Amino acid sequence: MAEKFIIEPSGALKGAIEIGGAKNAVLPILAATILTGEICTIQNVPHLSDVNYMCCLLESLGVKSTWDTSNGIITVDTTRINSREAAYEWVGKLRASFLVIGPLLARFGCAKVSLPGGCAIGARPIDLHLKGLAALGAEIEHSHGYVSVAAKKLTGAKVYLDFPSVGATENIMMAATFAEGQTIVENCAVEPEIVDLANFLNASGAEIRGAGTDTIKITGVKSLRGTDHSIIPDRIEAGTFMVAAAITRGDILLTNIMADHVKPVIAKLKEAQIAVEESEAGIRVWHEPSMDIIAADIKTLPYPGFPTDMQAQFMALMAVANGTSVITETVFENRFMQVGELKRMGADIKIESRSAVVEGIQQLAGAQVTASDLRAGAALTLAALCADGVTEISSIHHIERGYQRLDLQLNKLGAKIRRVEGE
Ligand code: UD1
Repeated sequence: MAEKFIIEPSGALKGAIEIGGAKNAVLPILAATILTGEICTIQNVPHLSDVNYMCCLLESLGVKSTWDTSNGIITVDTTRINSREAAYEWVGKLRASFLVIGPLLARFGCAKVSLPGGCAIGARPIDLHLKGLAALGAEIEHSHGYVSVAAKKLTGAKVYLDFPSVGATENIMMAATFAEGQTIVENCAVEPEIVDLANFLNASGAEIRGAGTDTIKITGVKSLRGTDHSIIPDRIEAGTFMVAAAITRGDILLTNIMADHVKPVIAKLKEAQIAVEESEAGIRVWHEPSMDIIAADIKTLPYPGFPTDMQAQFMALMAVANGTSVITETVFENRFMQVGELKRMGADIKIESRSAVVEGIQQLAGAQVTASDLRAGAALTLAALCADGVTEISSIHHIERGYQRLDLQLNKLGAKIRRVEGE
């Protein structure tokens, strides 16, 4: 039965919270274990439904995996993969599962993968992934909702991405790991999760240079070996708790966090007059009672710009800020799904093409709302914490894709969230 959050006004959230491993790093790294054909141990794995789907997809290929959720360690044995086909059953649930196409092609010379699903935030094509695989020598066919790729041999090539797509950079990097000669990917994504994937691959024996810059060079190797790897902290989970501190006018210390990765979010919080202090213990975010939360404009961009995955949460904050902010979404074409629901809570927001104009109001009002996707769900949860009256959020399974028990984590800081069975 579907579950719901029932959220009562919580007052200022206070305390310390440890950030978990990054969803967007663990998913590509799980796909990359296919390349090793050996046993890999992945640590600091967050307990998320997306990770579970990825493990199920790998198991459907013949991979053996064990996940100890008590200590966040997944052991993956990719020795005996007996299928090259990633079915709609899994890929339809999780767009990141399309990331198995590069590793399967590189290791076995062929793969058949369903066209992806995932959050309903835009068309999300895969043309850049396929352009890269074709440049390495893969033949590509589309039929009945599946993409088939095949190559007798992959050869290093120069690939220029029209847009620095995170997934395309990852798929091409993984496919090129075994391509003969050198592959150069230009205008590639520079997200910290790309660097984590390259670190995992290099530790397994790959030769990848330049991850984290806009040009990655991969020199093909013959094989990889199994390795141990610990996942980087989740910068979006961290950003979400920072907004929780701000929106409840609270005081939260975030531990296990990489300050560099959250720079754009910190910059915008400071612009909104939220206090932020970095120390050895972590990052403390709090609201100075004498300071108003003021409106700040946001434009989402590929890293190191403001992350699209933090846009909805920041909009919730701006809904109660003093003044008018303009939030422009440039990464996805349909990522204002939270707007209608925030308006049900009294927010004053108008969408004008790819921008949302948010007129801050004094107080939001609790209402019945629906989480349409992962980050929209997080934004509604944050809005509910500071709203007047009770908020009921349905479809919270979307939230569980990217947050490990957000309700319990927030309750530890003083929130009043109950999880109940829905209709
Ligand atoms: C990843 C993240 C997601 C984040 C997004 C942008 C994972 C598992 N997910 O998604 O949380 O919101 O980066 O930071 O890491 N595009 C094309 N053609 C392609 C590929 C992408 O046009 O072949 C477009 C997309 O439609 C979108 C934009 O590029 O408008 C960014 O997409 P991309 O960077 O590929 O995002 P994902 O890897 O899907």
